[in-house]
Amino acid sequence: MAIRGYVFDAYGTLFDVHAVVEAGRAITTDPAALSAAWRQKQLEYTWLRALMGRYEDFWAVTAAALRHAVRRLGLTASEAELARLMDAYLSLACFPEVRAALARLAGRPRAILSNGAPRMLAAAVAASGLGRHLEHIISVDAVRTYKPSPRVYALGPETLGVPAGELLFVSSNAWDVAGAKAFGYRVAWCNRAGAPEEELGLPADLVVRGLDQLPV
Ligand code: 2OP
Repeated sequence: MAIRGYVFDAYGTLFDVHAVVEAGRAITTDPAALSAAWRQKQLEYTWLRALMGRYEDFWAVTAAALRHAVRRLGLTASEAELARLMDAYLSLACFPEVRAALARLAGRPRAILSNGAPRMLAAAVAASGLGRHLEHIISVDAVRTYKPSPRVYALGPETLGVPAGELLFVSSNAWDVAGAKAFGYRVAWCNRAGAPEEELGLPADLVVRGLDQLPV
């Protein structure tokens, strides 16, 4: 069946969350460890808040996760240093192949569907210049919960006006792939890190190493 639209995860798929490593150098000699701990805790907080029904937006969750990661690694950071790290999230670099890959898919709707708060996504899209290659930017904030809730994935078909089974959902996050598959999308896993599949019985329909390998 032909693909009638594309729905992209943002952080880790279009944008390199570990690009904040540079800002991390100011407070640690191991910025990669800080970035990894920060990202893991950020995702954990989204899952916990969604399950508890205690939604706070992704900016607040990302800031809380940063504070936890700094403490967990035994680091110290001033409020100004923390603010600089958070600001780095507003201008994350996109992966090198993304711009051309999105342009190549022009002609059918291309959307972001992300945990990111609207302001965060707007800033990252503006900073990366991807706006001209995206028809929609969809934030989970519309339903005040997080992936992998079906209420989030439902925003894709609702916004694009295309059934999930005729959309290709693309994510680098294997757990996000499983969530979209469970909802009914056709799914491509952009396995940038060469990570092992999740044991959730919800495999991707297609595995690529970059968005330039997506079927047009
Ligand atoms: C996103 O929703 C999963 O953080 C990732 O953009």
